[in-house]
Amino acid sequence: MEFLNLFPLTIYKSALGLDEIVRKNLIQEVYNQEKESKNNEKKMYSERSSWTGDVHGHEYLYKEKKFEVLYDLIEKHIIKYIKKIGYNEEKIDLYFQRSWATISRKNEYISYHNHSQSHLSFAYYLKKDKEQGAINFHDNYKQNEMVPGTFDSISTRAADFVKLNGMNAAQIKIEPNEDDIVIFPSKTFHSTSPSESNNERISISADVSLISKSSNKIEKFITPISEWQKFK
Ligand SMILES: [Fe+2]
Repeated sequence: MEFLNLFPLTIYKSALGLDEIVRKNLIQEVYNQEKESKNNEKKMYSERSSWTGDVHGHEYLYKEKKFEVLYDLIEKHIIKYIKKIGYNEEKIDLYFQRSWATISRKNEYISYHNHSQSHLSFAYYLKKDKEQGAINFHDNYKQNEMVPGTFDSISTRAADFVKLNGMNAAQIKIEPNEDDIVIFPSKTFHSTSPSESNNERISISADVSLISKSSNKIEKFITPISEWQKFK
């Protein structure tokens, strides 16, 4: 007898190896960005949502000189991830298209969402306590769900109609360490649980696009951006 688990979602998780002193400097830099934004504007969205730099004028962190060493390291990990999936990195140009910091304080969280305008995304944990949960991934396909709605129903779970295991989990929590990076397809829905720690958790996220180096004889990849023409 065999049970064949087909069509996996593959998430990359690894220590990044950022120098300790550089990491501490970047933490300070993110706090500075937050401070400056709070001086200038009210907190956006709800009171329990985390502070995110992208809506406060810091949506291109990779352009900031202090962060250069961070993105150089991240590029290497992203290449490993796409190669593992089977993409040929020699035929593909990768672009950071936006990147920002997130600060989560006690009881703050990021709701369920995906990044549908990009191809792959990551979260890098610049500052994080051991016991702070980090990121939940949600399965929208639920290939094994025979009775609709039963894999993510709280009552069904509570009444023990479905015993939780890896074949029926509708969401899975990943708990990275400080200095870990987690990379995933941007279309994957994810969220964070409310932070229970009195310390802040700081992560850096980005959206990355995979663009073909050549459009010759292929239909599906985005054509090289150098060939595009903006409307006059
Ligand atoms: Fe996200």
